[in-house]
Amino acid sequence: MTVPVLTIDGPSGAGKGTVSRAVAKKLGWNYLDSGSIYRSLAIAALKQAVDLADEAVIVNIAQAMMLEFDCDDELVVRLDGEDITSQLGLESTGNAASIVAALPEVRRVLLQKQKDFKQLPGLVADGRDMGTVVFPDAEYKVFLTASAAERARRRYKQLIEKGNDANLIQITNEIEERDRRDMERKTAPLAMANDALYIDSSDMTLNSVIEEVLNLIH
Ligand code: C5P
Repeated sequence: MTVPVLTIDGPSGAGKGTVSRAVAKKLGWNYLDSGSIYRSLAIAALKQAVDLADEAVIVNIAQAMMLEFDCDDELVVRLDGEDITSQLGLESTGNAASIVAALPEVRRVLLQKQKDFKQLPGLVADGRDMGTVVFPDAEYKVFLTASAAERARRRYKQLIEKGNDANLIQITNEIEERDRRDMERKTAPLAMANDALYIDSSDMTLNSVIEEVLNLIH
């Protein structure tokens, strides 16, 4: 029996995570947060204080790491038995993730881990290369983006609401730097699949984005 797959790709901060989780819940499908795999690898590498750009070393860590995902209401991730959920969302983790994610051999090693999520009754897969590399045959594809300024503003608001210090200019710079790294890398760069539905969420509410994605499937 074929498993329906919906891929949602786009730059960081476009709302992919929130939209993907809401859509997966509505449809009763499984959910793959592929960014969390790269983030977990980054946490493992940072813990061992190795050079994030040393491909052979990072590949070894990627092969050895044991990841467990629990996704009831909130995503809980364990790395080699340790709950690393609270470290996943840090800016430093995201930035380190985009460095290890640029290594071609690392992406190859992590490919099967991602494909394994494709199980009945269906899968919503969120990332950068879900529709282009990991699930090129997906029945439904979305490319969700927003302007860098709007994505920075949302991230800033999120941090402030959580009681963190935040600097809008610094966040904007980091978002632009991460976009550049994700789009310019040689292997599986962030790009829109030519059969994807393009959604710019800059001036849209969360609910209208979710509705547009659900319309694609119904
Ligand atoms: O989506 P998220 O911000 O969690 O991803 C963190 C980093 O992991 C991204 O900046 C990107 O470099 C990398 N990533 C990737 N391919 C994916 C998902 C994430 O290269 N499918």
